Amino acid sequence: MIDRARLDALAASGKDLSPEECASLARSAAEVVDVATLEREGEGSFQLLWRNEHSEGWLNTWWEPRDTGFHDHGGSCVGVYVLEGRASHEILVVGGPRRMAEYVAGQAFSLPDAGIHRMEHERGAVTIHVYSPPLREIGHYEIVSGELRRHGGPPDEVSPPSPTLTAALAGDE
Ligand SMILES: [Fe+2]
Repeated sequence: MIDRARLDALAASGKDLSPEECASLARSAAEVVDVATLEREGEGSFQLLWRNEHSEGWLNTWWEPRDTGFHDHGGSCVGVYVLEGRASHEILVVGGPRRMAEYVAGQAFSLPDAGIHRMEHERGAVTIHVYSPPLREIGHYEIVSGELRRHGGPPDEVSPPSPTLTAALAGDE
C-alpha cells in the first residue's frame, strides 16, 4: 500500500526541479514505499507514484534483468534512487573512455535535462525515478546503417536496448 497523499505532499515543489533535487526527492519518496509489500511476480513493473505540474515519480521493479538502451528524456532531467539491488548507469560518451557507474541500495544519481544515458538493472533491483518537468517523450538511440538515429516515443513506452551503439562504444575502448 502506498501513501499517495504523503507522496503528493513531498512532491509539491511549486517549481521545476534540478537534477540533484530530483535525486533527493526520489530518496525521500523511497521512505514512503514499503518494499516488503511489493508484488514479486513476472518481469517487473512501472508504477506511477505521482504526477504534478513540475515532476513525476515512478516506482520500477526489475524482477528480470533489463538494459534500457541509450535514451534521453525529451528535455526532462532525472534523479534515480536505488531501493534494492544494483543498477549500472552509463552516460553516452563519444571519443573518450566509457563513463559507467554502479549504484547499490541506498545510493542515488542524476542526469541533466539534455543528457543521454543507459541503465542496466540487475535481477531484483527496485528503483525510484523522478523526472522534472514531467516526461513528454523518450528519445531512443541506435546506430542504423552506420548513422546515429534518434527515435522519439511516448513516455510510457519501454525503452529498448541499443545493441549496435553499445557494441560500437565497447569497440572504441
Ligand atoms: Fe532514463
